[in-house]
Formats: sequence, C-alpha cells, structure tokens
Amino acid sequence: MSSSKKSLLELQSLSIEEIESIFSLATQLKKDFFHPEAKKYSPSLLSTEQPIALMFFEPSTRTRMSFETACARLHLPTLLLDGAAGTSLEKGESLLDTLENVAAMLPQAMVVRVGQEFDLASFQRRCSIPIINAGWGVQGHPTQALLDLFTILERGLSVDQLKILFVGDVRHSRVVASHLQLLKKWKIQMGLCAPAAFLPDDFPGQNFSQLEEGLSWCNVVMSLRGQTERHAQGLSLSPQEYHRDYGLHAKSIQSLSASGWIMHPGPVMMGVDMTVDVARDPRSLILQQVQNGTFIRQAVLIHLLSKGRR
Ligand code: CP
Repeated sequence: MSSSKKSLLELQSLSIEEIESIFSLATQLKKDFFHPEAKKYSPSLLSTEQPIALMFFEPSTRTRMSFETACARLHLPTLLLDGAAGTSLEKGESLLDTLENVAAMLPQAMVVRVGQEFDLASFQRRCSIPIINAGWGVQGHPTQALLDLFTILERGLSVDQLKILFVGDVRHSRVVASHLQLLKKWKIQMGLCAPAAFLPDDFPGQNFSQLEEGLSWCNVVMSLRGQTERHAQGLSLSPQEYHRDYGLHAKSIQSLSASGWIMHPGPVMMGVDMTVDVARDPRSLILQQVQNGTFIRQAVLIHLLSKGRR
C-alpha cells in the first residue's frame, strides 16, 4: 500500500489547506457531473482494483448511499456490510473480530459507522488499512461537517460572515462534534439553542434561550434530530412542546432573515424538528446537502487514497 494513503477519523487531522483542496476538487467534480462534455478530472491516481469496504453497524440512508454513489462514480468496487443481519455477528463474533477479518481481505479503505462503545481510534492505530469515519458514536461525523460547510460556502457566504445556530440535541450530536473541530479552524461564529438536557458541557459560542433570538442572530440555522438512541433518559418535553419551543415552523422561522439558510443533516423528524413547509422553504438547503455529500465523499476518497500527490 502506498504510504500516501491515510485515514480520516476526525477533522483535526486535516489542515485548512487540505480542506480547501477537498472543496475545490468537489466543486470540479460537481461541474464535471453536470457538464460531462467539459470534464476536467480524471481518476487516474486511484486504484480501481481493490474494493472499498463499507461497514455500517448503525442505521444509515444518506451516508451509506452517498459513499456508494461516490465509489460508483470513481469506478471503485465496494464490499457492503450493512448491519448484523446475515453476518457472523449474529453468531456472537465481536465487532473487533469482524473489522479485523475484513481488514485481512486487504480492501484499499474501510468506511465505518459504529457506536460509541467501539474504540475506532485504537483499531485504526493497529490497522494498516485507511479508516474513514462515517459516523462514530458521539465522537464525530467528519464528512457530514465537510459537506455542510461546502454547501454553505457554495451559497456565497464567507467564513468571516457566517453565523451558524445549532438547534436541538447539541449534546449528543456527532455532527456538531465535527462542526466544532471544523468551524474552530476559521474561528467561525457559533450559537446554540437547546433544552437543558440537550446542552453540551462546553460550547465555544453563544447560548440562546429563545429560538427566535437565535434565529434573528444567525444566517444559517442547523436543526438537529434528538439522538434518542444515545439518551440515558427521555426528554421532559413532549414532542409537541419540543416542536413549539425548538422546532422550525411558520411562526419561529419568521425570525430568520430572508437571506438566511435552513439546514439539517438528516434524518429530519418532520413535525418535531421542523414542519414540512419549512423543509420545502426556498431557503432550505437540506437536499442540496445530500447532493453535495456525494461530491464531497468523492473528493475525500481521492484526497485520502490517491497514489501520488494531486
Ligand atoms: N446525516 C446522516 O448521517 O444521515 P444517515 O444517518 O441517513 O446516514
């Protein structure tokens, strides 16, 4: 394996220059997709002989299919392990053994989604195959944060202008964990609005107790799903009360400026996180995030796995 190949477990491992290079490549790949007659990028630096192992031990729609799309566009064969059903995990094999056995098949990389209980960093240190974090417990979801920032910058906002408000389950969100690593690099302004049970222990930004106040302050609102699978105990608010106080709906969204943007990493709990009308508002970038995710993941695979420097 070429020594230039590397893992992506968290965004601290990427410099600003590397992130800008990934964004610039994703922009080119998107142009190539929509204007194939003027295609500029050729994936000649990627080996298409060894597969990419996609290993999802937690549910996923967007991330798994986005990596599958990215691999298909780059002519990279894939091996898919999607949940325990039909695998030797059902016979009692451990996650570690499962990952080690797939690594022994020498894929060129392993894209892994796994819960907090598994020490992915320790596995990566002992593994000779590059590991790409596709969502690891509450630790992080680096490609999601990259595609979110790419989508924002594509709308013409600069990192100096950006004021991003996270609304909802900030405490248990791996998306926010990766955003904090990413946004701190440029000292981007951040705020949050969340019920007490969803507040993080530490947050380097403003804490708005009233959603309307936060929405008036920001130019991008990132609504977040309650990560119920990671909650030790339930929220004291009912879904209706949560929606009233922290949901994006016809009344609350009036506080967001006409030039502000609405985002959500998905999956959206419609009627709780936001109304269907807000998800379809002209300011909503939710499906643009999903589309851009495919180009960002192509660019990330090229960045990490190219045989020589681009
Ligand atoms: N945003 C995200 O990770 O979505 P999935 O869980 O559907 O992959």
